[in-house]
Amino acid sequence: MKRILSGMRPTGKLHLGHLFGVLENWKELQEGYECFFMVADWHGLMSEYERPQGLKENILDNVIDWIACGISPEKAHIFIQSQIKEHLELHLVFSIITPLGWLERCPTYKEQLREITNRNLSTYGFLGYPVLQAADILLYKADCVPVGEDQLAHLELTREIARRFNGLYKKNIFPEPRQLLTASGRILGIDARKMSKSYDNCIALSDEPEAITRKIQSMFTDPLRIKLSDPGHPEKCNVHSYYALFAPQRKKEIDQLCAGSKIGCTDCKKELAGIVVKYLWPLREKRSELLKNKNRISDILEEGAKKAHTVALKTMQEVKEVIGI
Ligand code: TRP
Ligand code: SF4
Repeated sequence: MKRILSGMRPTGKLHLGHLFGVLENWKELQEGYECFFMVADWHGLMSEYERPQGLKENILDNVIDWIACGISPEKAHIFIQSQIKEHLELHLVFSIITPLGWLERCPTYKEQLREITNRNLSTYGFLGYPVLQAADILLYKADCVPVGEDQLAHLELTREIARRFNGLYKKNIFPEPRQLLTASGRILGIDARKMSKSYDNCIALSDEPEAITRKIQSMFTDPLRIKLSDPGHPEKCNVHSYYALFAPQRKKEIDQLCAGSKIGCTDCKKELAGIVVKYLWPLREKRSELLKNKNRISDILEEGAKKAHTVALKTMQEVKEVIGI
């Protein structure tokens, strides 16, 4: 079976963007690949080091959401990056062999330095963010990595680092991983921008029904529709795109009702809120069950770490052997 590694930073609560962008995808992949799904807490620390208090809480909370969404500990190995020390060892080896220019030129690095102004990211560690990511992936010799568009540059760097290592030490230790591009942006935030914690436009998977309803009521609709009698343009309305995801069978009818001025936006959103709450209900029940049984989560993470460590240790032994250290 081909192997996959993917990771998520524990920097906040998971939301619908994660569900449709990442978790649905992971759920499918765990059926056909050997999957390692990792909480990238060291990566999280790189941006949160000034206020790291939330990380620990998010780690468990995120893992609970993964499992509640259907990521199965029977099918995938679920683990926490910082529990496997080999990530740091390989990160150091890769740091030594990676030319500075590759990192300074990395588009995500330049963009984040420019855009994230409420934190000081001009650190030695943050420049090496993709080097740690390469270590994550190559430690497990992953064949494929499911990533969003924003991570493609990191995967390219991972391949370059693999080639450089193999070339320097004249041994094919690391396979070059392929990307499995995840279609992202299937769901937008309640303000119709990308759903993101930094825009404060998310519906969290763990939001209470009242919060979900309130957020959906505040969604922007067709800007050309001011009165009920104005015919709507559902294809221009974000509410409508939520119908497409949550209730595709109802979407067609909403199209007609909206374009024919037979439904008002308030009612349309009220109905959608009910649909979304109902859609997330099983997840909510599974989560509260898991919350009552934290030992089970520790067991799952321990199992995952055990498996991850076996693989990681073996790779590190090979690495040390070819270097001669
Ligand atoms: N950089 C990824 C992100 O921000 C998280 C991550 C860390 C990752 N290590 C990884 C993703 C390894 C894929 C593979 O989304
Ligand atoms: Fe959007 Fe519904 Fe209003 Fe039409 S009726 S504009 S789909 S919210």
